[in-house]
Amino acid sequence: MKRLTTVVIGMGRMGKMRYEKLKRHGGFQITGVCDEKPENLQGYPEPGYVDWEECLARCDPEVVFVCTVNAAIPAVVCRALSLGKHVFSEKPPGRDLADAEAMRREGERHPECVLKFGFNHRYHNCVIEAKALIQSGLIGDVVCARGVYGKAGSPTFAEEWRNDIRLSGGGILLDQGIHMLDLLRYFLGEFDRIMGRSVDTLVWKQLPTEDSAFAILKTQDGKLASLHSNALQWRHKFDLDIICTQGYIALNGLITSTNSYGEEKMTYYKKDLNARSGALGKPLEHTMCFDQDQSWEHEHQEFYEAVVSGTPIRNGTAQDAVRVMELVERIYGNTGRGPAL
Ligand SMILES: NC(=O)c1ccc[n+]([C@@H]2O[C@H](COP(=O)([O-])OP(=O)(O)OC[C@H]3O[C@@H](n4cnc5c(N)ncnc54)[C@H](O)[C@@H]3O)[C@@H](O)[C@H]2O)c1
Repeated sequence: MKRLTTVVIGMGRMGKMRYEKLKRHGGFQITGVCDEKPENLQGYPEPGYVDWEECLARCDPEVVFVCTVNAAIPAVVCRALSLGKHVFSEKPPGRDLADAEAMRREGERHPECVLKFGFNHRYHNCVIEAKALIQSGLIGDVVCARGVYGKAGSPTFAEEWRNDIRLSGGGILLDQGIHMLDLLRYFLGEFDRIMGRSVDTLVWKQLPTEDSAFAILKTQDGKLASLHSNALQWRHKFDLDIICTQGYIALNGLITSTNSYGEEKMTYYKKDLNARSGALGKPLEHTMCFDQDQSWEHEHQEFYEAVVSGTPIRNGTAQDAVRVMELVERIYGNTGRGPAL
């Protein structure tokens, strides 16, 4: 197995988690770790750097994983690409559309480099099974979808960098809702119209960012999606209904590190209007339950294969990044980001 020299920049929660997964993968040889807070570098055998530019210069790796706060992502990604490195970057792709476009442009200037963004939800087992079911044609064509992704915040939510607009670029929509937006694009295609939207701070009044974003989106060929992304779902929730001409799929729950979104399930129902009396509207249901999250492993493997074998990135391309950030900006509206005033 070819081993790619790799550095991880940003050794907070995600950087630490990816570090462990990359080590277990076997195809990544970590040669340096970087975080501006020296305490986050303690306990790692590799050389640690507090300055990412020094880390890139000294380690000269083949691969760079970028897991910093959103504000630092574009500069690190663009510099790494300009040095000819393959780059895996966390979502969101920067703070705004301009950041995402800048990274895409730098990627285009370096076609020899792989650039991938961490929209890992596409690799959750329920999503993989739903996609395969739709592609099989068994339940017809997708016509609409409803996605709800919500969390509760935390005692320190108001102090988190996620709600410091200079570091994050936005609130819950940009932080978590972006995953659901990405999935809605994945299942329905490109949205060219926002039919309605409301971005608000309903409960966390001390925040400069939104804690709730509703949107209705439409594709050019008339597929519809609704989204509610929020930080006031006091019981964590991940729900996605995908309605097709001959049936529908319900994704409920998601296995994550916090184990707080409930068991991950994919249920599908086939349209049956000739069901025996009393069964109409209660078609046979088929449910798959998943108790493991392998999304990170799948995601790293796709990136690894792209670097080693030149296979194209399928999920989390620079184009995906720009398209989803276009939607985020359009949902935020003229205010640019944060709650619509
Ligand atoms: N894919 C997912 O599902 C998922 C889940 C959570 C977070 N994320 C993303 O991962 C990124 C990190 O989130 P997190 O939860 O790990 O946050 P975190 O606060 O735990 O970690 C961020 C780290 O980046 C470091 N950092 C900030 N600026 C830096 C710089 N200029 N140079 C070096 N280090 C710097 C901070 O010191 C911190 O340790 C964010 O972009 C976030 O949106 C993705």
